[in-house]
Amino acid sequence: MTHARPPSTPSPIQVVAHRGASDEAPEHTLAAYRKAIEDGADALECDVRLTADHQLVCVHDRRVNRTSNGRGAVSALELADLAALDFGSWKDRQDLKDHRESPDWDPVPGELTSVLTLERLLELVCEARAGGRALELAIETKHPTRWAGQVEERLLHTLGRFGLDRPPAGGPSPVRVMSFSARSLYRVRAAAPTLPTVYLMQFVSPRLRDGRLPAGARIAGPGMRIVRNHPEHVERLRRAGHRVHVWTVNEPEDVELCVRLGVDAIITNRPRQVLSQLGRF
Ligand code: G3P
Ligand code: CA
Repeated sequence: MTHARPPSTPSPIQVVAHRGASDEAPEHTLAAYRKAIEDGADALECDVRLTADHQLVCVHDRRVNRTSNGRGAVSALELADLAALDFGSWKDRQDLKDHRESPDWDPVPGELTSVLTLERLLELVCEARAGGRALELAIETKHPTRWAGQVEERLLHTLGRFGLDRPPAGGPSPVRVMSFSARSLYRVRAAAPTLPTVYLMQFVSPRLRDGRLPAGARIAGPGMRIVRNHPEHVERLRRAGHRVHVWTVNEPEDVELCVRLGVDAIITNRPRQVLSQLGRF
């Protein structure tokens, strides 16, 4: 089954802040997401993992070693353990190391740079929407196979508490779920059939060559490397009627290519730069 959009309704490319405005502020922190909202991003992206006490937190890596002053796997730590860590200072050190200027990154200890729960991020999105912003959230399930459905179950339960597990009457869903795991998307789709799902692809596969998506997926999510090296796959996906969301698009020439190919969303660490290139900032 295809999901074609009407050819007569061109829509602007959605700019999605990858882990927040993560080029300028520490990824997956309130600081990074607030910055992305200020910068005018259309949507936010986050990764979710389950803690040892089954709380969903926004952390990319399996371990907290790179992005905090702690050590260990997220799945082995409880939320209280994570809440005691600093998820901000590593970025400051990295910026110094890179000799990069980061004028907008002003580390403030406390909530802005502590571990971010999915719940807190949903509150932020709801606040922005209540204030009139059509902000969306793209949530990626990380290593969901290890948890045999518990990540998806917890995710849908949390979304349900915010009334975000389905689109509002007559409008698009503010939330979508992304994954490299077809099984994860299948589980989401089975439990929440109206929630949009994005199948992330890092490599060219026979499925991609055929312009097909797995059963639980509604949107294609190829990595920028695929798009750069094999733009024909994007064209094929679009011809098959699939929407295409590309990650992670940081360089102006990559943005330009995405525009040329007519993709639907650009997922970037640099929302302000991309919006400016698109003439929207
Ligand atoms: O938005 C998709 C992208 O985030 C997937 O890669 O490793 O950054 O989670 P990663
Ligand atoms: Ca991600």
